[in-house]
Amino acid sequence: MTNAPLPLIAGNWKMNGLHNESMALVHELAELHMGLGPKPVDVVLCPPFTLLGEIAAYLSATKLLVGAQDCSPLENGAHTGDISAAMLRNTGCACSIVGHSERRRDHGESNGLVKAKATSLLANKLTAIICIGETEEERDGGKTLDVVTEQLAGSLPAGAASSNVVIAYEPVWAIGTGRTPTSDEIAEVHGRIRELLYEQFDYDGYAMRIVYGGSVTPENAGEILRVKNVNGALVGGASLKAETFWPIVTAAPIPASAVAHP
Ligand code: PGA
Repeated sequence: MTNAPLPLIAGNWKMNGLHNESMALVHELAELHMGLGPKPVDVVLCPPFTLLGEIAAYLSATKLLVGAQDCSPLENGAHTGDISAAMLRNTGCACSIVGHSERRRDHGESNGLVKAKATSLLANKLTAIICIGETEEERDGGKTLDVVTEQLAGSLPAGAASSNVVIAYEPVWAIGTGRTPTSDEIAEVHGRIRELLYEQFDYDGYAMRIVYGGSVTPENAGEILRVKNVNGALVGGASLKAETFWPIVTAAPIPASAVAHP
């Protein structure tokens, strides 16, 4: 008996969002979420650090979740500019993205560092959304499955389980470009990730969510979210406006035997 995961739609605002416009967006999303009724889908907003506390407080009475875009692997101390997982938990975050390709690119983050960040998140009872994905050159060179296999093996923390880890497959060449893999290409990579998770976690590997990210829009969300082993989406550009983010949330199909994650 396999447990079908509850879909997760996460909005990664990246380095966007000043106070007033962001709070207006959050207010609009909270109203839309109330109108969604009991539809079982997890929705996470990942604003910049500067807005986490206020947005988490504002949403605390709702079922909308708040996540960070990154966290330090360290617990505390003399690390100027860094934000720890304990601090994220303290602001009301439920999760954090780690290993986004923009951080791997801009800050030289390795799989080992991503794993250390995820380890710290789990130690602080937060969910780690771990991003992996190939570059265009790697895809053209036929290395996609090798790259995601290596990134997954190197980034997963000890103690990972379906309740505390989400894998985000984000082909680097699809992020912010308007280009997406075909459904078959997405199915191939998600299928491989599922196999690897099953090998490592047995049946819990079926319940671990694998979300797709990279140029998800209201136009393509319905098709992408129905691809086998796609359990949601990590949305960048389209998450910055309610009129483009919400249709992606409502496009998420509900599995027959959805398993709620805490
Ligand atoms: P995009 O970004 O939706 O703007 O392509 C996705 C992401 O980087 O998470």
